[in-house]
Formats: sequence, structure tokens, C-alpha cells
Amino acid sequence: MNFTVGYFTTSIGKKIVVAVTGILLLGFVIAHMAGNLQIFAGAEKINAYAKFLKDLGPALWIARIGLLVVFALHIYFTIQLKLENKAARPVPYAHMKTKQASSASLYMIISGLTVLAFLIYHLLHFTLGVTNPDYLEYEYLLKGEKVHDVYMMVITGFQVPAVSIAYIISMGLLCWHLSHGVASIFQTLGVDSPKHSSKIRQFAYGISAIIFVGNVSIPLTILLGIVR
Ligand code: HEM
Repeated sequence: MNFTVGYFTTSIGKKIVVAVTGILLLGFVIAHMAGNLQIFAGAEKINAYAKFLKDLGPALWIARIGLLVVFALHIYFTIQLKLENKAARPVPYAHMKTKQASSASLYMIISGLTVLAFLIYHLLHFTLGVTNPDYLEYEYLLKGEKVHDVYMMVITGFQVPAVSIAYIISMGLLCWHLSHGVASIFQTLGVDSPKHSSKIRQFAYGISAIIFVGNVSIPLTILLGIVR
């Protein structure tokens, strides 16, 4: 037990927590995008999917709490590592490559904080209905049963240009964060090698590009009036 707790106070232990929580968050982002893309299949499909999630009841709450814990651990250990690095090197790097690595980690923190700000807004916007309380009142008749009209909520939400543009910019920053983060996961888990590094980078950029295109397609097609 002491060994386990002690391990997570070491730098490598913390890096592993950031990497593993990163994988879990990436899995969530992909699954969430796949669910959201059902909007292109029409109101019935996405509303039935939202109802299915809601009907999970306690299991949904367990997943939500799990996601929150994973997100909190990811942020907490990233901050810890950054503080440790700073304490270990109060004088800035002079060498170019190390300087680049240090500025990449700074951009990771900035893009990560932007994703956090996006997420807070996103939850207030679509899940909690704080910014637009009327969204939670939209109803849809699904096989004779009244359910929440998520389709209508998303369409109405993204018909506001400022909202769609904010989402699109946030998705750009999220994918920038992911493209660097995914490559770092391989490094932390020790599956990186000079021989594979270009393949790993291609994989990281590829997966980030898919997430960007998939997520942006929703606000963009709604804003352009293609999906109504
Ligand atoms: C354009 C892209 C996105 C769209 C259209 C979208 C859409 C939605 C919708 C409609 C909901 C509410 C579902 C419901 O009430 O049944 C939701 C919830 C949520 N979204 Fe997104 N989302 C997007 C991107 C993201 C991203 C990138 C993240 C994470 C970084 C994210 C994290 C969440 C979370 C954590 C919830 C709450 C889930 C829950 O309450 O169980 N979303 N999203």
C-alpha cells in the first residue's frame, strides 16, 4: 500500500497518472463524438440515444462521477509536474530543443485550461441549461413517449453564430492539445523509440484531425443551414 502511494509521489508515477487519465479522457471524447454524430441521422435517432443514456440511471451517475475524478486527477497531476519542473529549474533553458519542449508544455497548459473553460461553458449550455433554461423544456414525442428534444436543443444552440464559432475555436484548441498529448502518452508509457516516433506523431495528428472534423461538422453544418 505504502509502495503504491509512494509511487504516485514520484515524477514517473505522476506522469503515468496523467497518461492513463489522458487515455480515458480521449476514449470519452471519441465516444461522445460518435454519439453526437447521430444528429446527422435525424431527431428520432439522437433523441432515442439521449433517452438511452438517461435511462441508465445510477450507472450514468457512476460514469459521470468517474469522468469527473479522471478529469480532476489529470489536471492535478499535470499541475504537480509543472510545479516540480519549475522548482527543479528556476533558471530558463538555454538549449534550443529543451526550450522547445518547455514551451510545448506551456502551450499544453494554456490549451488544457481553454478546454476546461469550454467544458464549463458546455455543461452550463447543454447539460445544466443555465445559459438557456428553455432548452431543457424542449420535448419530442418518441414512440408515444415525451422525451427531451436534444436534437432541437443542439440545432437552436448552434444557430447562434457566436456560440458555434466559440465551439469551433475550442475544438481547434482541444485537438491541438490532443495532438501533443497523444504523442506524449507513448513516450511516458515507454513505447516510443526513434524508429517509431514519426509513426506515433502521424497517429497523434490523425486521431486529433478526426476528432476536429467530427466535432466541428456539427456546429458548422448547423450554422450554414445544412442541418436544420
Ligand atoms: C461540437 C461538439 C460537441 C457537441 C455537439 C456536444 C453535445 C453535447 C450535448 C447535446 C450534451 C447534453 C446531452 C444530454 O443532455 O443528453 C453534451 C454533454 C456533455 N458533453 Fe458534449 N458536445 C460536444 C463536445 C464535447 C467535448 C469536446 C467534450 C469534452 C472535452 C464534451 C463533454 C461533455 C460532457 C462531460 C457532457 C455531460 C455528459 C453528462 O451529463 O452525462 N462535449 N454534449
